[in-house]
Amino acid sequence: MPLAVELESVSFGYRPGQRVLEGVDLKLGEGEFVAVAGPNGGGKTTLVRILLGLERPSEGRALLYGEPAHRFSRRRTLGYLAQRSELGGDAPATVREVVSAGRLAAGGLIGPLRRRDRELAAEAIARVGLEEYADLPVRTLSGGMQQRAFIAKALAGEPSLLVLDEPTTGVDVESQDSLAALLDGLHSDLGVTIVYVSHEFGAVERFVQRLVLVRRSIVFDGPPSDLPGVWHDPSHVHA
Ligand SMILES: Nc1ncnc2c1ncn2[C@@H]1O[C@H](COP(=O)(O)OP(=O)(O)OP(=O)(O)O)[C@@H](O)[C@H]1O
Ligand SMILES: [Mg+2]
Repeated sequence: MPLAVELESVSFGYRPGQRVLEGVDLKLGEGEFVAVAGPNGGGKTTLVRILLGLERPSEGRALLYGEPAHRFSRRRTLGYLAQRSELGGDAPATVREVVSAGRLAAGGLIGPLRRRDRELAAEAIARVGLEEYADLPVRTLSGGMQQRAFIAKALAGEPSLLVLDEPTTGVDVESQDSLAALLDGLHSDLGVTIVYVSHEFGAVERFVQRLVLVRRSIVFDGPPSDLPGVWHDPSHVHA
């Protein structure tokens, strides 16, 4: 299986002497759907920022599709929903405008959106169930709906690797389930490689083949069914 992500003996600190991650080895094959879980401060966000090339390992190396992650040439194939995504400034951008920005990121195009871009933005809006809200300012939607708009923005870029960091913060259980089903569809229909970060993984548990638990290092990596019972409640995995 060709690899999308390869982390080899990765250690990382935000300042000298600090060890947020230590000795992390992780290989993700193209087309895998993986959940990353662990306690607050365990290093999940840091791990995905390293695998996307947004931070460089202090030791070890990070590869994306075989290239050094920080110099990866096809960045438009990456979809990233950062933890606590927010709208910049006070812009009264509508759902459709925010989602369309995902197309701009994908194509780097200048000028008006092409028809295909508009179609893909509309498709992404429909996938997250926001059609009725498409032309309303995002800031007037509920927190959970805003989150779905940001998910649609990440989807609109047609990524081959989609990384979602705590995408369901503020999203109700029903919407968590529909997001999980949506990701399952992207994964099985389009073969998108998905990394789903959450300290709770209940909603995606039945869809993922693999769960990675991060607590400074990788303390578990395997099918969710192999997870020792006590760890099913992530609050038991103390930092
Ligand atoms: N920009 C930063 N500068 C300094 N330290 C940081 C920075 N970002 C994170 N840290 C520290 O690195 C450690 C890991 O943080 P990280 O955000 O990766 O954890 P996490 O598993 O994503 O946590 P959460 O579940 O709260 O999102 C924490 O101790 C945190 O304080
Ligand atoms: Mg985090």
